[in-house]
Amino acid sequence: MSTQPDFSPELTNDGSYTFFSEEFGEWFHSRGGAYDEAKLTFVAATHLPEKAKRDKIYLLDICYGLGYNTAAALETIWRINPDCRVYLMGLEINPAVPVSAIAHNLVAGWSPDIRRILAMLATDHQVKCDRLEARLLIGDAREKIQSVIQMNFQADSIFLDPFSPLRCPSLWTVEFLQQLATCLSPDGHLATYSCAAAARTALQFAGLTIGSTQAIGRQWPGTVASFTEYDLSSLSQQEQEHLRTRAAIPYRDPNLNASDQEIVQRRQQEQIESDFEPASRWRKRWASKQPVL
Ligand SMILES: C[S@@+](CC[C@H](N)C(=O)[O-])C[C@H]1O[C@@H](n2cnc3c(N)ncnc32)[C@H](O)[C@@H]1O
Repeated sequence: MSTQPDFSPELTNDGSYTFFSEEFGEWFHSRGGAYDEAKLTFVAATHLPEKAKRDKIYLLDICYGLGYNTAAALETIWRINPDCRVYLMGLEINPAVPVSAIAHNLVAGWSPDIRRILAMLATDHQVKCDRLEARLLIGDAREKIQSVIQMNFQADSIFLDPFSPLRCPSLWTVEFLQQLATCLSPDGHLATYSCAAAARTALQFAGLTIGSTQAIGRQWPGTVASFTEYDLSSLSQQEQEHLRTRAAIPYRDPNLNASDQEIVQRRQQEQIESDFEPASRWRKRWASKQPVL
């Protein structure tokens, strides 16, 4: 766990703030706009505006962090259907992150109702009111997801928002994504900001079909996954070829308890033994053709 004493707010291009993680060496959100990323890369990509017309919605927020994806989801759903009942499970390893977001008032851009919910989740790790039942499970998502599975929680939308596969490989493995697929309803969607080939093939190995999304504030697309092809935008030729390179060899964690180093080493060994094309050759082939992932 991080020894970072506090997180310092950093402005992003839409006027909202994010944090930098010294432990993972990455920003918590796209510098192009933290709130915009939550609204578009996660909420719009999982078709929540259409789903909001239902009586109830189940949300699974993997790597809850500052709570922006949850906030954007609740705000979107209740703007469209104020009576929609929402069941939310958030998973987060570091309880200091949501607390710090509230302490720095980084949630000021959300509506008063949503701000109250985020504050309660940060301190009490649960909220129960007439239209929301929410829990924030603190711990390694690989372990906490087991409780979600035991509850038979079937999410309409899953937000997959760990740090990048290079920095946090344990949350991008085939085995972890299989656990998430178990929690996805038959017509649900999982969205992530990443288009890493290893993440995409891991989603496919987990039994999901993948499509591209427009990831906000980044130069590359995001990914949406579901059990059917219906309403997924298909991958470009360039993206499909990326999935036939060594970069697409997924991370593995058979017992869901390996260290990041073990997970990375296992994949490197598989890459060495692979007869797939190196990703550098694919990149070179597409460099002249635009756009480059
Ligand atoms: C990119 S940030 C997520 C941002 C967040 N979704 C938001 O809207 O603010 C990644 C988060 O993953 C958390 N994290 C890192 N490793 C984790 C693990 N093994 N299990 C659960 N959460 C983890 C970090 O503490 C951090 O809050």
